[in-house]
Amino acid sequence: MVSLPLDDNSGVSTIKSYFKSLKEKASEKSKVVVAGGLAILLTIIILFSTGAIGYLKIALQSIEDVSVCPLSEPLAPASFYKDNTTVLRILNDEKFRLKSVQKLSGAVQIDTTIFDNQPDVSEDPKVWEKFADFHLYLQTTFPTVFALLEVEYVNTYGIVLYWKGSNKSLKPLMLTAHQDVVPVQKATLGDWSYPPFEGHYDGEYLYGRGSSDCKNVLISIMETFELYIEEQYKPERGIVAAFGFDEEASGIISASKLAKYLEKKFGKDSMYAIIDEGVGLIKDASTGQIVAVPGTGEKGYLDVKVNLKTPGGHSSVPPDHTSIGLMSELAYLIEKDPYEPILTTKNPILKYLQCSAVHSGDKLSKFTRKTILRAGFDKLANSKVVESLTANPLTRYLISTAQAIDIIKGGEKANALPESVQLIVNHRIALESSVDETKSRFVSRVKTIASKHDLGLESFGETILEPTTKGNFVVDYSSNALEPAPVSPSDDTVWRYLTGVVRHVFEDLVYPDLEYPIVAAPGIMTGNTDTRYYWNLTKNIYRFSPFFSNDMMIENKIHSVDERVRVGAHLELTAFFYQYIQAVDTPDADNK
Ligand SMILES: *[C@@H]1O[C@H](CO)[C@@H](O)[C@H](O)[C@H]1NC(C)=O
Ligand SMILES: *[C@@H]1O[C@H](CO)[C@@H](O)[C@H](O)[C@H]1NC(C)=O
Ligand SMILES: *[C@@H]1O[C@H](CO)[C@@H](O)[C@H](O)[C@H]1NC(C)=O
Ligand SMILES: [Zn+2]
Repeated sequence: MVSLPLDDNSGVSTIKSYFKSLKEKASEKSKVVVAGGLAILLTIIILFSTGAIGYLKIALQSIEDVSVCPLSEPLAPASFYKDNTTVLRILNDEKFRLKSVQKLSGAVQIDTTIFDNQPDVSEDPKVWEKFADFHLYLQTTFPTVFALLEVEYVNTYGIVLYWKGSNKSLKPLMLTAHQDVVPVQKATLGDWSYPPFEGHYDGEYLYGRGSSDCKNVLISIMETFELYIEEQYKPERGIVAAFGFDEEASGIISASKLAKYLEKKFGKDSMYAIIDEGVGLIKDASTGQIVAVPGTGEKGYLDVKVNLKTPGGHSSVPPDHTSIGLMSELAYLIEKDPYEPILTTKNPILKYLQCSAVHSGDKLSKFTRKTILRAGFDKLANSKVVESLTANPLTRYLISTAQAIDIIKGGEKANALPESVQLIVNHRIALESSVDETKSRFVSRVKTIASKHDLGLESFGETILEPTTKGNFVVDYSSNALEPAPVSPSDDTVWRYLTGVVRHVFEDLVYPDLEYPIVAAPGIMTGNTDTRYYWNLTKNIYRFSPFFSNDMMIENKIHSVDERVRVGAHLELTAFFYQYIQAVDTPDADNK
């Protein structure tokens, strides 16, 4: 476990010696001053004994220094100053808007629903044929893109588009999105305002499954390519687009293979950056200001299953605890002891808060801002911030491992002792932790119950407690585990270009009347995207779809009834891609 950098108290000793010398000076002079010195000493004692010195230090913290979260300068591609008509057309032209609606609506109309645990394409090609329809749609809607770019199909339906750059020594930029969508629950069909695969446009929103997760991203990328081709754009830096087709079922069948293909073709650390789906611009809940939140981290993932087998028998002569009772005791122990929150400088959330603290003006109280600024190295300040994040269920799990007992199965008959019980616990692992740490904590709890009741325990193939006649636990994975993702940089040139273009697009073009700069602050994804397979390709991975949304759940209704996207938001995203690709089309955009 990464421990919190502790306060070394050097500040305290400085203050101590300052007061000590004050006291010495005082004793040389008059009694009145001595009394004054004693009063100060007394104050110090009180300060130490109540921990008030910590508060004093917070109060003395400066909030002037913005170096913890420097603002990127707005950054437009050079072409913008020569001719800005295309980007303005994307954002404001009614004809462009309607064409765009048509393209996205058509994509939504093709049902590309994916379910869990499907067979591979080679095992059961029929299951996947709907993606052939989707390909045909893309090929006929964007014929110039398929004609001009190198196209590769990976595991039949994964799509890689490659636009070669003229300068081979520049790493390509990689854009990703997925073709699949989550199922629509039959029972909710009647609740949709418009049928989920109609792609209905009501003049403001486009409705339908996939409209904001994330056929909008895929279509934005394609529309951008199409515009470039019309304009005979010739990139220096290559551009790669990769579209998986089972992201909503963990990407096992597509993104995992796209990753292998890309690593083989381009090599390790071969991409300039990867921009995948994610949150874009939101209104910060505490400051009310619009902020851009590129996802720089993802929590880890672990499903553990534990089986308990005990001797059967007639329930007229039961033991004190049946396997169901024993498993319940384990469940009770697990829930009684949730994971402690932890917030270190490793977690993008700390930087996110610090960005709010230095850039939100008076929207947050001075004391709050000062506390946040010290939270990376000051124990008291850290505990205050952790306390307030933990109090809110929406932010609590940004800083702690989540554990949820999601499945329990056991028992066959009302008069027979249960011989086998199974429990499955889902974990979303905090950035400071690891799969191993989570496993061993889980096993230690099983061991507590096993020891208490004289049961055997086998854990991930290893015998921890010898089998007994009373019963035996077996702990194992129930799906693929995933470490927390490496945190992407939020202080390098790649980040500066990304967030500089966001400022340009949203401050200059989308919200020209905004009275404050758009601050970019890193965030973490609560789920995992296809980028879980792309760690080898670059350290600059951003889960980021820059369009404004009040809330991806409430406004866009992702995975829910009436999923929709504001068409204005779709155009913002296209405008962003159009400006960003050009802005990074230079060696200047590289990390030095
Ligand atoms: C677009 O270019 C025109 C002509 O150069 C200029 O007058 C206008 O201010 C520009 N618009 C923006 C939003 O920069
Ligand atoms: C190609 O990119 C490299 C940086 O990787 C740069 O030094 C070189 O000048 C570029 N070549 C051209 C023709 O722009
Ligand atoms: C990343 O690279 C490591 C080391 O070469 C390799 O074992 C791993 O399979 C790669 N990851 C993916 C997702 O391809
Ligand atoms: Zn998605």
